[in-house]
Amino acid sequence: MKAKLLTTASLLAILSACMSTSDPLGPPASAWGNYLSWYKVTPQAETGDPTGFLGSVHDGSRAYRQIYVNAVGEAVNRGQAGFPYPEGTILLKESFNNEAALEARRNPDITVMVKLAQGSSPATGDWEYVRPDGARGTGDSGLGAFCRDCHLFAAATDYNFINSRFYENNR
Ligand code: HEC
Repeated sequence: MKAKLLTTASLLAILSACMSTSDPLGPPASAWGNYLSWYKVTPQAETGDPTGFLGSVHDGSRAYRQIYVNAVGEAVNRGQAGFPYPEGTILLKESFNNEAALEARRNPDITVMVKLAQGSSPATGDWEYVRPDGARGTGDSGLGAFCRDCHLFAAATDYNFINSRFYENNR
């Protein structure tokens, strides 16, 4: 039993070591320090798996999630301008473990997508992905590929799942 636990632990270590990250291309985290003043994409916190693509990531389907977009990307998100998003767009998602944590605003996991200048990271659609621990993923890094491979299901809306078009189609 102990040997099995050790094996699982070392396997996890190997897996996370394999997920390479990349040097920041986008702005420092202070760029989203005031996100609570941004346009809130989710009128109410969402739970469950509204897109059907979530699986166990972003704290899983039992988490309560809220999404925000900065002023640069707001018109596209709200359907007032066409995709793709302009450079400088920041999409941010808060994931709370459960409803009580949401109400208390306790320890949300923050994941972020930053739209870079065109051609900066073709492999990720010029998005920089930021994990809750601050690690960045662009280009052919493991983290960039991990986030991209699932956000690719939203390729028609520039890798962004939740926006006004999503709500129109799911009314
Ligand atoms: C297995 C699929 C999957 C993976 C992997 C994934 N996401 Fe997501 N992500 C989603 C789904 C589905 C949503 C839509 C909102 C929801 O259901 O919570 C989403 C929403 C988001 C949003 C809000 C913008 C939007 O598209 O609606 C951000 C920001 C985000 N993810 C960042 C990340 C980052 C950073 C990573 C990698 C560390 C990542 N995601 C990996 C499925 C995934």
